[in-house]
Amino acid sequence: MGYDLIIKNATVLTASDKYAADIAVAGGRIAALGAFRADGAETVDARGLIAVPGGIDVHTHFDMPFMGATTADDFRSGSEGAVFGGTTTVVDFAIQKKGEALRKALDTWHEKAEGKSLVDYSFHMIVTDLGEKNESEMDKMVDEGVSSFKLFMAYPGIFMSDDATIFRALLRTKENGGMICMHAENGGVIDILVRKALAEKKTAPKYHALTRPMSAEAEATRRAIALAEMAGVPIYIVHLSAADAMEEVRRARERGVPAFAETCPQYLYLSYEDYERPGFEGAKFVMSPPLRPRGNEERLWKGLARDDLQVVSTDHCSFCMKAGGGKPGKELGKKDFSKIPNGAPGVETRMLLLWQAVEEGRLSEHRFVEVTSTAPAKLFGLYPRKGHLSPGADADIVLIDPRKKHTISARTHHTKADYNPYEGRTVPASIRDVFIRGRRMVAGEKLLGPMGCGRFLRRSPRQFN
Ligand code: URP
Ligand code: ZN
Ligand code: ZN
Repeated sequence: MGYDLIIKNATVLTASDKYAADIAVAGGRIAALGAFRADGAETVDARGLIAVPGGIDVHTHFDMPFMGATTADDFRSGSEGAVFGGTTTVVDFAIQKKGEALRKALDTWHEKAEGKSLVDYSFHMIVTDLGEKNESEMDKMVDEGVSSFKLFMAYPGIFMSDDATIFRALLRTKENGGMICMHAENGGVIDILVRKALAEKKTAPKYHALTRPMSAEAEATRRAIALAEMAGVPIYIVHLSAADAMEEVRRARERGVPAFAETCPQYLYLSYEDYERPGFEGAKFVMSPPLRPRGNEERLWKGLARDDLQVVSTDHCSFCMKAGGGKPGKELGKKDFSKIPNGAPGVETRMLLLWQAVEEGRLSEHRFVEVTSTAPAKLFGLYPRKGHLSPGADADIVLIDPRKKHTISARTHHTKADYNPYEGRTVPASIRDVFIRGRRMVAGEKLLGPMGCGRFLRRSPRQFN
């Protein structure tokens, strides 16, 4: 058989197995794993390297207008960061404006991504205005491969939906096989706490965290799960930060409810103390939900290892500290923490930060693959095309060099943010090569793939209840 590419001498690591093999690729897919002669195919030697399935980040915001700013990264720079960081697929969020048809929102995001993305991509739909008409539009989205919908219990007046609306959306997914992804924070309570803080002249970035307590996240998580349970459908909690919220997910799962949750590296590696940095530095970490007090992360790590949390995504939502290129940045909130655009970069650092957890004994190697690739592929209708290294799967392959350290810095990262939340941190491994559908995209420091070679992925409806 003629192969296009053979990756020789790799240590293949999946969510379930680890073995030495060559990986043969034909037509963009993995053809076979075993021992092969080159016979004219492009050959890449992976001796000493670990081959894992391409990372899947199911929570990015590229080219997103939010809070008077627009994210620093569009699909071009965001996907460049992704691919250098070992992520070969992203699921970004199309946003429905109030009064707008879901179809229109989807078209807008297709325009933003097409011809720009270096990695394969798909969309969730952020629903902000669920009229009776949009309920049937949800079905059409699922037919178009947009099989998940994000709703918000926070950001009143902007994104927030009330319980009745959430319940209607949940019920609809029973019919159409979609999945509701929930931003679970009690927006009403937070709004009052924010107003109270500002009235007391508490304007510094740290008040962002102090007005968004853990209990506001735990309460909303409990309510979201209860609503899903009443509707009889699964639910996925996005960017879970508080261990008390994770406890709600754990309890639900224990009683057999199909509740799932993702956390993000920032909640595992950073803490409330980052808001106490001098001057306006704390603004770098203003995101929702916020970073939590030290000790919280230990509970999350344990929950991640034992499947109380299923996925690690990034919520990559990068704003520069200083305005640049006509784009306002975090400085919008210099005098008022509630005006700091919420979000931080992360798509480029997720895989290696999680690999550090393997080195530190917090996660097994297989669990690393599970939470960064296999589980998101399964939950979001991409499996077995993505998320696994086996014959027939897309040849999305990341070669990790477990012996070459990497120091994270805004000076060398590829996204457009003017800072990196992990500045100066050295991780124990680096990414040497990245392949998407058999095309070598990254070789060491070099980007080989042309802009726009990422493809839109139509995702399947939910296969589980
Ligand atoms: O602070 C955040 N997370 N910004 C992005 C919007 C969201 O809620 O995911
Ligand atoms: Zn959110
Ligand atoms: Zn987000």
